[in-house]
Amino acid sequence: MLVNAAQMLKDARAGRYAVGQFNINNLEWTKAILQVAQEMQSPVILGVSEGAAKYMGGFGTVVAMVAAMDTDLKITVPVALHLDHGSYDGCVSCIEAGFTSVMFDGSHSPIDENIAKTKEIIAMARQKGLSVEAEVGSIGGEEDGVVGSGEIADPEQCRQIAQTGIDFLAAGIGNIHGVYPDNWKGLDFAALEAIGNATDGMPLVLHGGTGIPEDMIKQSIGLGVSKINVNTECQIVFTAALRKYFEEGKDKQGKGFDPRKVLAPGVEAIKESVREKINLFGSANKA
Ligand code: 13P
Repeated sequence: MLVNAAQMLKDARAGRYAVGQFNINNLEWTKAILQVAQEMQSPVILGVSEGAAKYMGGFGTVVAMVAAMDTDLKITVPVALHLDHGSYDGCVSCIEAGFTSVMFDGSHSPIDENIAKTKEIIAMARQKGLSVEAEVGSIGGEEDGVVGSGEIADPEQCRQIAQTGIDFLAAGIGNIHGVYPDNWKGLDFAALEAIGNATDGMPLVLHGGTGIPEDMIKQSIGLGVSKINVNTECQIVFTAALRKYFEEGKDKQGKGFDPRKVLAPGVEAIKESVREKINLFGSANKA
C-alpha cells in the first residue's frame, strides 16, 4: 500500500521504534525489500537517490515499477516511495512523477536559503499529499555524488527548520554515508539530545545506517530517531553473494548462467540484511 511517510514515522516516534529506509537500485532490490516488509508486517520506506533513479530509467519508471509491484505482490503494509537527498529540481520532478515522499537536501546552502526552499517544496508537496524531509548540518562521506562534510547540526537551526512544517528531519550527528572508518568517533548523542529538545517531538532521521553498532542504534531511537537509512550494506552483501556464486563456478553448472539464478543469492543476502535491520529497528508487526 503506497502512502506518504508522515503517519508511519509519527507512530514510530510515539512507539519508540524506527522505520527502515532501504535504498533501491533495480527490480530485484525493490522486490526483496517489499517481500521482507510484508513477511515481517513492517512499514517500510523505499529510498531512491537521483543517481539510482537515472540508472533505472527515470523517476516515472521508478514510480510505475514500485506501484505495479506493490499491487502484483499484494503488499498490504505501508510503503513510502521517497526521494533521497533530493535537489530542488529533483523534488519538483518527483512530486510530479508520483513519489509519495521527498527529501529536500538544502544542507549545502546557508540556513535561510535552506529554509526558504524547503518551504517552497512543502507547498508543492502538500498539494499532492507527499511527506517532506529536510536536512540540517551534514552527513559525512559521499552517496551517489552527494558529498557532505559531516558537520554536526546546530539545534537552533533544527528548531527553525522544524517550524516550516516538514514531517521529519535529518540532522548531522557525526553519521557518515558508506563504510565507517576505523577511527570514527561515533554518534554525538549530546547533540542528538539537544536537537530532540529543540524540535519538540519531530521524528528524526539517522542517515548512514550501514555499520552503526547496535547499541548506538538503540540509543538513538531512544532519543527520537524514527527513520534509519540503509544503502551501502545491501550493496556489499549483494556483491559478496554474487562473488561467491562465480568463485564456486555455479554459473558454469547446468543453466547457472540464467540471470535469475545468478542474481538469486544476492537477493537472498539483501533479504537477510533487511530482516536483521527490521528486527533491530523494532518495526516488525507495526504495520
Ligand atoms: P549508508 O549507505 O551508509 O547505509 O547510508 C544510507 C543513507 O543514509 C541514504 O541516505
